This record gives sequence, C-alpha cells and structure tokens, in this order.
Amino acid sequence: MFPSDCLDVNKAGHLTIGGYDAPALAKEYGTPLYVMDETQLRQNCRDYVRSIERFYDGRGLALYASKAFCCKEVLRIMAQEGMGLDVCSGGELYTALQVGFPPERIYFHGNNKNAQEIREGVAAGAVRFVVDNLEELRRLDAEALRQGKRIKILLRVKPGIDAHTHEFIRTGQIDSKFGFALETGEALNAAKKALASQSLELCGIHCHIGSQIFDTAPFALAAQVMLGFLSQIKAQSGIELDELNLGGGFGIRYDENDTPRPYSEYMERVSAAVKITAAQLGLAVPFIVIEPGRSIPGAAGITLYEVGAVKEIPGLRTFVLTDGGMNDNPRYILYGAKYRVLCANKADQPADQTVTIAGRCCESGDLIQEFTPLQTVEPGDILAVLSTGAYNYSMSMNYNRFPRPPVVMVNNGSARVIVGGEDYADLTRHDY
Ligand code: LLP
Repeated sequence: MFPSDCLDVNKAGHLTIGGYDAPALAKEYGTPLYVMDETQLRQNCRDYVRSIERFYDGRGLALYASKAFCCKEVLRIMAQEGMGLDVCSGGELYTALQVGFPPERIYFHGNNKNAQEIREGVAAGAVRFVVDNLEELRRLDAEALRQGKRIKILLRVKPGIDAHTHEFIRTGQIDSKFGFALETGEALNAAKKALASQSLELCGIHCHIGSQIFDTAPFALAAQVMLGFLSQIKAQSGIELDELNLGGGFGIRYDENDTPRPYSEYMERVSAAVKITAAQLGLAVPFIVIEPGRSIPGAAGITLYEVGAVKEIPGLRTFVLTDGGMNDNPRYILYGAKYRVLCANKADQPADQTVTIAGRCCESGDLIQEFTPLQTVEPGDILAVLSTGAYNYSMSMNYNRFPRPPVVMVNNGSARVIVGGEDYADLTRHDY
C-alpha cells in the first residue's frame, strides 16, 4: 500500500512512520517537518552492503552519495553501517570529517573543485579524489606535491550512456559538463597524464549515468564500456587499474507508476556483466564501487505540513494551501517530480478529491503536486508527502525568508531532532 515499509496506518486511522503517529509528530515538533525513519535508512544501507559481499565476494564498497541528504547524524549512521561516502563539496567533506568519517572511505567528487577544497581534501589524508578535468588534475598534482602527499585518484569518465531518465539529471551522456569523454581520446590522455604523476596514484575510473533509473540494462552497459576503457589503458600503459566506480542512480518508488527492482537485482545483473566482460578482456575483476544516493534516504523520509486553507476555483481546480512548499521541496518545480500525498490524520479514508497542493511562497509555481488524489481536507489537517527523504532537505532554500524546517529521526516509536529548525535570527545572521 505504501512506498516504504516504515509507513503504516494505526487504529486511530493516522499515518505512522517508524511506529510513530505522524499527526502527533506534527503537533510535537510543528510543521513543516521532515521526518526520517532510522530503521529504514539502516536497512537500505544493509541491502547494498550485503549485495556487495554476495556478488563481489566483498571486493567492493557502497558509498552513500551524501548530496541526497547530508547532516551529521545521517553521516554517523552511514559510517556505522560500513558505508563509504561520496562528497561533492567542501561543505559535505567538512560535515563528514566533523563526525570522524574514515577518510579512506571518502571519495571527493565535483566538476570544479576550488583551491580551498583541493587543499582541504589533500590535507584530510586518505580521501580519494574523483578528478573531473585536466585543470583539476594539474592543480591536485601541485597541491599534493606541496603537502608532500601521494593522493589516490579516479578519473570521471563519460561512458556515453543515455539512461532514459529526466533530461536534467542525465550525466553519463556525451553532452555533459561532467568528466572526460571516451570517444575523443580525452579520457585516455588524462589517464596517461595521471599515470605519469609522482604525487598522484591513479587507482581507477568512475562514471555516473544518471538518476532515478529503474532499468538494470544501462548499468550493465556502462560496466562493459568502462571495462573496455580499463583494457585500453592496460594496452597502452601496461598498467591494470583495480578500481571501477559505477556511480549511483538506483530509482525509488514515488508513486504507483514507479517500479524499482530490489537493489540486489541491480547488483546481480551488473556483477554478471562485470565478471563476463572482465574475463573476455583478460582483466581481473576490479574492486567495485557504487554510489547510491536517493535510494538510501529517499523512501525513509516524509514531509508533514498543516493545511492552512482550501481554495476552490470552480471548474478549474482546488488548491490545498500548506505551510511549506518549494522552499522545502523544490523537486516539483524543478523536475515535475511525482509524489504521493495523503492526509496523515485521515489516512484510513478514501482519497475522494483531486487537488493541487500549493505552498506559501510568492510564486505561482510554488506547488508540491498538481491534480493529485487526496482525502477531503480542511484547515488544521496534516498532510504527508511521501518519499521525500532524498534531495528535499538537501535542496531546500530560504526564498521569501522562510526558515528551513527541522528534521526529526524516528526509531521504533521514539523520536529525536537531528537537525534543528532555523529561526528568524538564522536568516539575518550574515546580514550587515
Ligand atoms: N554519484 C554521483 C557522481 C552523482 O552525481 C550522483 C547524483 C550520485 C552518485 C547519486 O545518485 P542517486 O543514487 O541519488 O541517483 N537533484 C536531483 C538528483 C541529482 C543527482 C545528482 N547526482 C533530484 O532531485 O532528482
């Protein structure tokens, strides 16, 4: 019935998350409110960690792509679950180091890392850099030399795969700002330069073909293309690199049209492709790295809002006005993203209306969902938008000077704040 195991309906007819009554959470912590279920979050990590053990005999690592949801407590949990970490900014790296995340399990992404980020990443010790372009290679080489360090790197490669996802979140195809192109020889040239460096140790290659992908085929194809490149590097340099990072992109269920496969199926299919292709090319099976972002916190999170007013425009539509909006969830305005919405205090009642859920920004486009089924609601009711654990809090903003909502973590019927809500003083903190 629900997109996630952590959701249910209790005897009062209320939505529960992690065994906690959702309207009660709204009352206790206020709205808008992000809620995340710890059991589900940990379970999602375990699925990946176990799959790596099972299909690659443990010769691999699942990194959590922290851009999906980055805060100290979530990163602490990732470290406890044995995950590695993908950071793509100095801020994400800083958060990781603050909670003592093991640097050797951190991969530093980003297509235009600045001097400070390069300096801090090198200083952090064993952090691996995923190098995007020749200028970065040059700067990183110089910084590693300056600090007297030898830095492990991977090259980000565009495998040229169109993963049939939303145009804005395709990154593996040729017309992309990320990484080195294979077909022009750019990637091979970068590999040669990296291999010639004294202070950089080229240990592998990386690709990321997109996001919210359900089909296993593009991942398998990407693995084949990438192994082909490893074979090319070997033929040209005699060096067989040992690490293949295949990125993230595993889809989750936002509404009933989404049909994600169990993650172990992706792993099984891709590991078969990796093993067969490696054997064909005479390569050893490399150490495999994957980078799930969305699929770790996505379905573990919901957002709660209070209905402020219901506005009917006869013959056109009914707006349900909430106390949140594009500030805490910009994904509908950015991508037309689908979400399932329900009335948390009437979760046992049929969705007998078709409504548009709007926020309170001074912006007509400030919508969470259009023409979506919902129970008949009135002011004071609590709405739950499901599967908002990824790319909602992390993409939130202060437009119109609305403070960001808090994040509450629930676990087997208990709840704790893991990110405090902002107040007005936070909004003016940097104003002069
Ligand atoms: N690795 C790299 C290098 C990435 O760029 C990304 C996401 C991931 C891993 C994790 O991908 P995931 O497993 O979450 O699909 N803001 C967009 C998503 C942008 C994804 C960017 N890169 C959204 O809200 O849909």
